[in-house]
Amino acid sequence: MTAISINGKTAIYGIIGNPVSHSFSPDMHTHAFQNLGINSVYLPFPIEEDNLPFLLDAFRITGLKGFNVTVPFKEKIIPYLDVVSKEADILGSVNTVIFGSSGWKGYSTDGSGFIRSIQESGYDVSGKKVLLVGAGGSAKAVSLSLVQNQISSIHIINRTAKKAEKLGKILLKENSQLEVKVNPDSDEKYDLLVNSTSVGMQKKECPVSDTVIQNCRRAVDIIYNPPITPLLQKAIQNGIP
Ligand code: ATR
Repeated sequence: MTAISINGKTAIYGIIGNPVSHSFSPDMHTHAFQNLGINSVYLPFPIEEDNLPFLLDAFRITGLKGFNVTVPFKEKIIPYLDVVSKEADILGSVNTVIFGSSGWKGYSTDGSGFIRSIQESGYDVSGKKVLLVGAGGSAKAVSLSLVQNQISSIHIINRTAKKAEKLGKILLKENSQLEVKVNPDSDEKYDLLVNSTSVGMQKKECPVSDTVIQNCRRAVDIIYNPPITPLLQKAIQNGIP
């Protein structure tokens, strides 16, 4: 790999949050720019909420092209933006901001990234019956993109049932034909099982029973560390892709 060459034409991207020191993004995106031969850098910007409008002004003045948004600004950034995408508006959350002809535009890319990763594995979600585990921010983004990609049915399990019910209503607004069920029986069968909770991230825990896993034809976990979570380990043991 060639070393980064920074010059007068280097474009700047970055991530805002508090803290941002834990983020993999600066390393990940700067390496991607290098590998693709793009003359850009990606920097961390840890900031206080009061400074958000000033930072956006500074970004605009200095010609920064775009930035990512992490905790705790995914919702708080919205009033400072000029326009948000349909998904970001429904989710009330923005993780990517680009400066374009209409000013600062906010997007939520979690859902489309999730769908793309599934498509790249050769799987088509349209017409599928899905079991979603979780009803938090990630669950919302992931399930909205599943519905927009024409799944036929979604059942939701969540530790806090009320949140699952609320999510079901949001999804029905997107597609009134969708079959939605909250906390279904554990013997129902599914095409696709999606874990969108944080269970499995650190401890060796699995968010669902063995029976639930065995009743699914395919499994996906949004947790990327560890790469094989206890849920995926059990799926593999049961011959489930
Ligand atoms: P994110 O933005 O990563 O989705 P979140 O909005 O806090 O984070 O959502 C976390 C999800 O993981 C929720 O579905 C949460 O369940 P609750 O809605 O009941 O809080 C789920 N979750 C987190 N820890 C859990 C645990 N120990 N057992 C079961 N579910 C858990």
